[in-house]
Amino acid sequence: MPAYNKVTQTITEALRDICGKGSVFTDEEKTEAYSHDETDAAEYGRSPEVVVLPDSTEQVAQIVKLANKERIPITPRGAGSGLSGGAIPWFGGIVISLEKMNKLLELDKENMVAVVEAGIVTNDLATIVQDEGLFFAGYPMSLQTCVIGGNIAENAGGGKAVKYGVTGRYILGMELVTPEGEVVRLGGKVFKDVSGYDLKSLIIGSEGTLGIVTKAIVKLIAYPGARSDILALFRTPKEAIDVVPVILTHGVTPTSIEFMDQKSCIASCKYLNETLPYENCGAMLLIELDGNNGIRIEMDLIETGKLCKKHGALEVYVAEDKNNIERIWNVRRNVAEAWKVISPIQSLEDIVVPVSRIPEIIPELERIGKKYNMEIPCYGHAGDGNLHATLVKDPSMSMEDWKKNEADCLWELYQVTNKMGGKISGEHGIGIKRREYLKELIDPAELRMMQAIKKALDPNNIMNPGKIFT
Ligand code: LAC
Ligand code: ZN
Repeated sequence: MPAYNKVTQTITEALRDICGKGSVFTDEEKTEAYSHDETDAAEYGRSPEVVVLPDSTEQVAQIVKLANKERIPITPRGAGSGLSGGAIPWFGGIVISLEKMNKLLELDKENMVAVVEAGIVTNDLATIVQDEGLFFAGYPMSLQTCVIGGNIAENAGGGKAVKYGVTGRYILGMELVTPEGEVVRLGGKVFKDVSGYDLKSLIIGSEGTLGIVTKAIVKLIAYPGARSDILALFRTPKEAIDVVPVILTHGVTPTSIEFMDQKSCIASCKYLNETLPYENCGAMLLIELDGNNGIRIEMDLIETGKLCKKHGALEVYVAEDKNNIERIWNVRRNVAEAWKVISPIQSLEDIVVPVSRIPEIIPELERIGKKYNMEIPCYGHAGDGNLHATLVKDPSMSMEDWKKNEADCLWELYQVTNKMGGKISGEHGIGIKRREYLKELIDPAELRMMQAIKKALDPNNIMNPGKIFT
């Protein structure tokens, strides 16, 4: 364990001088909420020594300077909705929560960009700009709670990545507090920039290990006024997944192709107290198309529906009614939460493979599940190759067996993914949860490059230490 210093009374007082008394707390009752994210708190939770809620970049910079001088670890935190332990204070120290820095600073309609503080809730930004006919296309499933800073830290993906890509595509610039407490502005309101290294892209997805993003310049696009969805039901998960590469190579680019197996759909319906007439099918695809030309979308939708039918769909429903679309999407958005409630001991994975290889995943999950006596329901962003296989503990399995089976099962799943040219995390990140596995599977030269960058930018290893690397 790296040698860090403890947060003393003098340091707490210095933090109060920087942020004000009401924005610094050390009592366990209040710090507990900052000790975990959406991973299992019993396994990954760690208490911070102090939590600070700065309200400006200058305050963040002063805190970081102090921590760097005193060799105290810092954990930046957005909404705590992460799924790999990225916001957990692994070595104690200071949690810097950006929850007070949640404002839209500028909506520049001429350049179609928004300048925001990092703590703005993603859905708040999406809603404000939508009123102006604009669209923020980065769209994580947790958008109602997650914040832009966290989306940048994880380079969050989500449901619309097939057509619109992931968060990084929409971040034109940022204000960053470096691990040594300097404030630097990367990128700008420009769509092209090859003026030196692309440091902005290095920060995106670096899981808060290379600095704290305090502001972002976000690219917006015209709001796609027309949208239509289809729901295709299949007999088995394999039949549903098999059709995904067929759709993708057929000349129409859907906005989303989301997948749910029967167990995931039932779990979410149960959790939401919702009833859908589709619970009896083995799996479903939820396919969305959007754009500006409603007639074109309808034509593409019919074409895609026919394709599903031709390739084994039992039923294809066009969800024209807004209310019905929202109901189905709500079921999809809540699967992770539902499994968490129904089976709190679990491992939510987010492997990603080239889309042409995605049909191989389902048989592999079935094989691995049988081998380790493990139930592995699956759902996710089939259209971009990113699936949420979820290992859930059978109540009859002992904790000891679960731990062993979970580790063996994950290792086998990751190796299979790797062999297919895939990656062990497509959107949730490495954090604490996957660092042992990353070390085994990554090219050692690539790992050395990453560590060299970390060392150069954070020589005292105080910025979110313990994440990504062991
Ligand atoms: C989802 C989260 C778990 O896709 O990434 O629902
Ligand atoms: Zn997801």
